[in-house]
Amino acid sequence: MLRVVIIIMVCFGATLAFGAYTGMRTSNAAVSGVMDDRPLLGRKLFFDASLSEPTGQACASCHLPTAGFADPDAEIPVSRGVNPLHVGKRNAPTIAYAAFSPPFHFDPNEKLYIGGFFHDGRTHTLEEQAKGPFLNPQEMANPDAADIVAFLRTLSDGYRMRVADGR
Ligand code: HEC
Repeated sequence: MLRVVIIIMVCFGATLAFGAYTGMRTSNAAVSGVMDDRPLLGRKLFFDASLSEPTGQACASCHLPTAGFADPDAEIPVSRGVNPLHVGKRNAPTIAYAAFSPPFHFDPNEKLYIGGFFHDGRTHTLEEQAKGPFLNPQEMANPDAADIVAFLRTLSDGYRMRVADGR
């Protein structure tokens, strides 16, 4: 259960962090003006290159803010994983507006399929999406979710506090 909470927390934090970057309000807490440190946690997780196996790759490595939250690597047309022998089949798209994408659906007015995440819309929510990169062998390549949780627990900074009290 804790694993699920942490993965969702990563995703939710990342979602709020996108909002914080762009100055947009993405949560009820933000709208109501309640102080909320989840954007800071999300930002920290988003840029933390120690969360890959081996270390060296963060979400931001492929979704770099200064590259429009897309892949800054223009050498090849697909994103590279933390393991240099493992490249993906696709390039990282911008995620600057990801928090605003509706679930994948057919819009009868537009007569188009819109929304969802990934190039093929296969994931409906950011929560589902965020579980992928940590474990994908072509991305951050952790062996399993328990490994990430165990690692987060060894850290002596802010993560530890958040993990310990289950927030
Ligand atoms: C190795 C590079 C790489 C890393 C690291 C990475 N991503 Fe991605 N990301 C991609 C690629 C490639 C896609 C598109 C995959 C597809 O369409 O099948 C993607 C898609 C996404 C999408 C969907 C965007 C859309 O509009 O459909 C989101 C959101 C996202 N990534 C967030 C994250 C988060 C959060 C992390 C860290 C936990 C992360 N990514 C780490 C390469 C990466």
